[in-house]
Amino acid sequence: MSSLDRAFIDDLLSRIDIVEVIGKNVELKKFGSNYKGLCPFHSENTPSFNVSQQKQFYHCFGCGASGDAIKFLRENEGLSFMDAIEKLASMANIELPKLSNKLSDDSKSLYTINTEAKNFFINCLKNNKNAKKYLVSRGISSEMIDLFEIGFAPESWDGLKKIFDEKNYVKEAIGLGLLINNKNKTYDRFRNRIMFPIKNSAGKVIAFGGRTIDSNEKAKYINSPESNLFHKSYELYGLHESSKYISKKNRVILVEGYTDVISLHKNGFDNVVASLGTAFTKHHIKKLKRYSKKITFCFDGDIAGKAAAWKALENILEEYTDDITVDFCFLDEGKDPDQLARDNPERFAEILSSSIKLSEFMIGKIREELNLENLEDATQFINTITPLIKKIPNGIFKKLISDKIEKIVDLDKKYFLKSNVKNQKLQIVDKNTDNEISSKDDLILTLLLNFPDTIDNIHDKIKDAISSKLVVDMLDLAKSFKTTSGYNLNRFLETEEKMKNLYLTTIEKKTIESNRDDALKTLEDIITQHDFLKTEREYYKILDKYTRGESLTKTEEDILRNYKK
Ligand code: CTP
Ligand code: MN
Repeated sequence: MSSLDRAFIDDLLSRIDIVEVIGKNVELKKFGSNYKGLCPFHSENTPSFNVSQQKQFYHCFGCGASGDAIKFLRENEGLSFMDAIEKLASMANIELPKLSNKLSDDSKSLYTINTEAKNFFINCLKNNKNAKKYLVSRGISSEMIDLFEIGFAPESWDGLKKIFDEKNYVKEAIGLGLLINNKNKTYDRFRNRIMFPIKNSAGKVIAFGGRTIDSNEKAKYINSPESNLFHKSYELYGLHESSKYISKKNRVILVEGYTDVISLHKNGFDNVVASLGTAFTKHHIKKLKRYSKKITFCFDGDIAGKAAAWKALENILEEYTDDITVDFCFLDEGKDPDQLARDNPERFAEILSSSIKLSEFMIGKIREELNLENLEDATQFINTITPLIKKIPNGIFKKLISDKIEKIVDLDKKYFLKSNVKNQKLQIVDKNTDNEISSKDDLILTLLLNFPDTIDNIHDKIKDAISSKLVVDMLDLAKSFKTTSGYNLNRFLETEEKMKNLYLTTIEKKTIESNRDDALKTLEDIITQHDFLKTEREYYKILDKYTRGESLTKTEEDILRNYKK
């Protein structure tokens, strides 16, 4: 925790308004005493993200994300604790308290410590023949050493420690993971390793990756731990060095290793970044979108590479908006980008240009071992792909990929993309045949028959949401069974076999709603949800027409313009 005291932070929080802070990123609407909007932490169509002005916190009923303004800035914008405080202070026009002369744990000073460490490592490399020889053997040129500010941590246990002791930075250096404190002993974390400084996009050193040069050493890489400056699922190695090329080429290549980034750079593929020993995340994509709309993942061609690619795909779908394209390429087995770019850059370029699109990879991978002619496999296909499709933000891509899946399995997409109303099951129903009753229809009928008073309020509005003709007929009939003393539903016993049986089985069913008001509320929810989906469908139909260049009627134009997700 920083040396800012809690009182300052509490005071700061009391002087800003969380609604204003969040409102800069999320469109919020007043809803009772709270504000509501679409949750920025997961993908959704109906708002479940609540911000309480009174209590100054946010909470999402969909994904459970919650916290105060500081947490919001950290999680949504990827700011460090201190950067979040700084941002809030400037919004509130409050000056940060002057920290004492002794170096304290604020981020500016932490950057200074990392920079000192970086310079120390650079110096050590200059004086170490072995380390330089190692880099030569890896094809890393002095030009790349300068560009990426590569260094070397010597074999010693206290090279850095001595420096930080002198300057009185030990505590902070421990916090940054440069030094380790164990059983009252403090010593250097990185020893006998090539040091790759990890920088944020502004070029400040936030962490290090250290590769051993000793082939007998067990840990090939040691990286800085997470700290106030470093959140590895947000950061990308090489972004600072590559960003201008990424923007210029309007494409970014994503690889897994530090040495891959460096070697690709050297061989002309300078629009490249790497994750930091973790999977790629949606935060990475969110960040990269600012530089380029075309994102190409590059993985090894082996099983591990395929698995890593799949993990990346799952992680990033929530950020897969219509303005970007993501594709995947896989290297020839046994090669990594570093080697291939050095040995055969033409082949690497070829592989890049034959990358496969995210949609192809997604559908192809799932159907790989399935035979969709067979119903069980088709069901498995739908069940695997549906949760993935649901993660994709609404837009043209989501619509197109849904259409495609619909064609592949020859199934109307309403059976796999419909939002669940009370655990609605996947069932095939047709308004004109009455063999099967969907669980939604079943729920509607059960509520209406258990609480017939609701029929008065709901009759016409609910009809559109019902799929089965039999249920619609029953509803109409029920209405005519109204007497001065209420509904005489037992007249269903005199109807034809199918209806009578449905009546008998339905009145046996219990609902979780225990009174008329609750039943009415559920029925109204079903109507709202149905209307929402209908409008959404209508909107996408018009959007589709519009994107195909067809002319629109005035009404269609209005719908297009006024549609709110
Ligand atoms: N990594 C790590 N810890 C490890 C192994 C790997 O953090 N023990 C991370 C590093 O960021 C590394 C990346 O995963 O760069 C890819 O790992 P790998 O392919 O094994 O290493 P390379 O980058 O290819 O390194 P080298 O070529 O030096 O073996
Ligand atoms: Mn490698």
